[in-house]
Amino acid sequence: MARRKIALSLYTLVLTLSAVSLAFAVRVVPLMQPHERPTFLRPTFNRIFDTSMYGILQLNNGLAQTPQMGWNSWNFFACNINETVIKETADALISTGLADLGYVYVNIDDCWCQTRNSEGQLVPDPKTFPSGIKALAEYIHGKGLKLGIYSDAGAFTCQVRPGSLYHENDDAKLFASWDVDYLKYDNCYNLGIPPKERYPPMREALNASGRTIFYSICEWGVDDPALWAGKLGNSWRTTDDINDSWASMTTIADLNDKWAAFAGPGGWNDPDMLEVGNGGMSYQEYRAHFSIWALMKAPLLVGCDVRNMTAETFEILSNEEVIAVNQDPLGVQGRKVSVSGTDGCYQVWAGPYLDIG
Ligand code: GLA
Repeated sequence: MARRKIALSLYTLVLTLSAVSLAFAVRVVPLMQPHERPTFLRPTFNRIFDTSMYGILQLNNGLAQTPQMGWNSWNFFACNINETVIKETADALISTGLADLGYVYVNIDDCWCQTRNSEGQLVPDPKTFPSGIKALAEYIHGKGLKLGIYSDAGAFTCQVRPGSLYHENDDAKLFASWDVDYLKYDNCYNLGIPPKERYPPMREALNASGRTIFYSICEWGVDDPALWAGKLGNSWRTTDDINDSWASMTTIADLNDKWAAFAGPGGWNDPDMLEVGNGGMSYQEYRAHFSIWALMKAPLLVGCDVRNMTAETFEILSNEEVIAVNQDPLGVQGRKVSVSGTDGCYQVWAGPYLDIG
């Protein structure tokens, strides 16, 4: 029997930022407040093989051994969602072959819920989700996929639907009773209460619900979640929202890079969902976007309308070698290792991976 070859290898991505793109490279998300840089963030720490923080915050609930892959409704549909869109998306993930490549989470974002009923339970919007979420979960599970839902660690969601703050146990129980597999938990209308106080109750509620639910923490990087969220969730947003532009994408990549040493199997930095296929960037820019997200071990959550993808979009999203870099079991986040040229326009991003041959 041939001996399995397991070796550490190195992949690199050389990125040339075009002058045109740089002209638009304004900071679209605020930088974190300047503060005394702790030892582990000094430049010497941020070397590609430095894994000294890797796994120490790991939640170890069996989920997210590699970054989550799937689809989310927000970047393309925003509030224009309904159960038909979600079902057709699930169908398209199967028929295009994307599901077979690992895109298994079908995640509903904001706007699925209208109100709470007299018992205080969240109620799906009867116009857009008349069959309810449990029926949708059944449909999605019937295809071998997983269903994600969205709520907020505040009084309201960002689109002013009911939030889960102080309703954590009831809501987690309800999600579990609907057979939901994933919860994205947002940060709007948070009453000024620090994230470190608002995110743990939902962790406890999910534990108590009796169902294993992926907990995707979305506090936009405001309180440096890489330093603490790995004990609560399987991924944590490190930045404000992406938009469909080269400037936004590269700014977010840089912000996310800072936390590279904290990613590892069980918990991932989340620089937000993919914009590939939404029309705001060129083919080459989308290829760079997908490649950087893959090597940063970012969640690969498709954000376009997969029912109507172009061949180019499909080609990018289905690149098996790039996906393999993202899903590499070693799970060390690749990072920016070299910057040169005018305005840092020539960059090398690299990282180690486990070469199982
Ligand atoms: C916030 C999140 C986004 C999206 C919207 C929905 O802005 O960061 O990813 O979920 O809310 O309202």
